[in-house]
Amino acid sequence: MADTKNRQPQRLNKRPEEDVGPPVVEIRKLWTRFGRTVVHQDLNLDIYAGEILTIVGGSGTGKTVLLRQMLGLERPSEGCVKVFGQDITAADAQQLQRMRNHWGMLFQQGALYSALTVFDNIAFPMRELRSLPEDVIRDAVLLKMDMVGLGPEHANKMPSDLSGGMIKRVALARALALEPQLLFLDEPTAGLDPDLSDSFVALIQTLHSELKLTVVMVTHDLDTLFALSSRIAVLAEKHVLAVGPACDVLRVQHPFIKHFFLGPRGQRALEVLEERQAQNDSED
Ligand SMILES: Nc1ncnc2c1ncn2[C@@H]1O[C@H](COP(=O)(O)OP(=O)(O)O)[C@@H](O)[C@H]1O
Ligand SMILES: [Mg+2]
Repeated sequence: MADTKNRQPQRLNKRPEEDVGPPVVEIRKLWTRFGRTVVHQDLNLDIYAGEILTIVGGSGTGKTVLLRQMLGLERPSEGCVKVFGQDITAADAQQLQRMRNHWGMLFQQGALYSALTVFDNIAFPMRELRSLPEDVIRDAVLLKMDMVGLGPEHANKMPSDLSGGMIKRVALARALALEPQLLFLDEPTAGLDPDLSDSFVALIQTLHSELKLTVVMVTHDLDTLFALSSRIAVLAEKHVLAVGPACDVLRVQHPFIKHFFLGPRGQRALEVLEERQAQNDSED
């Protein structure tokens, strides 16, 4: 049974680094109920500037709902979600609109507007949330396309003309349209074959370090998870069961963690991670 007395996540280290400042996202005592179903029960989580925080959990544990609550698209039944210090559960439509300027989101499904060209998909948030002249938008869209490795020749294509990997790139360019400080990714590599998935991971890595983004990601893909995460938050028993760097989370004794990470693929990914860390340590 879930431990209902202590719902604080098991914190495996205090912060990704010292002196990183206040959390960019601060979730306190969050409850989510749909009718009689309790999805989140007294959930707490902090996300710090510059990190890639990955949320993992079984299917239906409320990962997507939690992301949507951080975006202000859904309100929790109880509790507080602060983004950049502002309580988004109490924000009115106008405040939310203003806050949307500071983050980008790559949704799991329905990534693009099927009736709009690549160009218009990426321009959409700029036209909706900012009043910019068309020539500025044009330059910005082409710049974003370049950032995600899409040449200008793709600008007038329709989503139906694109491969799965290109759709993800366009969706990422659109998520970056407003130059966000905070990027949400829900299953960014789901449905991509391993090669495409690797190149998408490399792209996220580059953008993360170049743009100094804070990234909140949901993924069940272990390669993506190990390649990108600064810290991992495990969602189980309706709350954040443990949060910390991968090597520490993996040591937590819990059936979900064992099942999720410690199969053959998890072991392999962990070995790669440990090798990489040993390499980094010897370089320092
Ligand atoms: N609007 C809704 N109304 C009722 N139940 C919902 C709603 N949105 C999500 N749920 C339920 O909440 C649970 C968590 O959903 P979700 O966050 O999508 O899970 P996942 O962790 O797989 O992303 C699921 O059981 C889902 O059926
Ligand atoms: Mg989901």
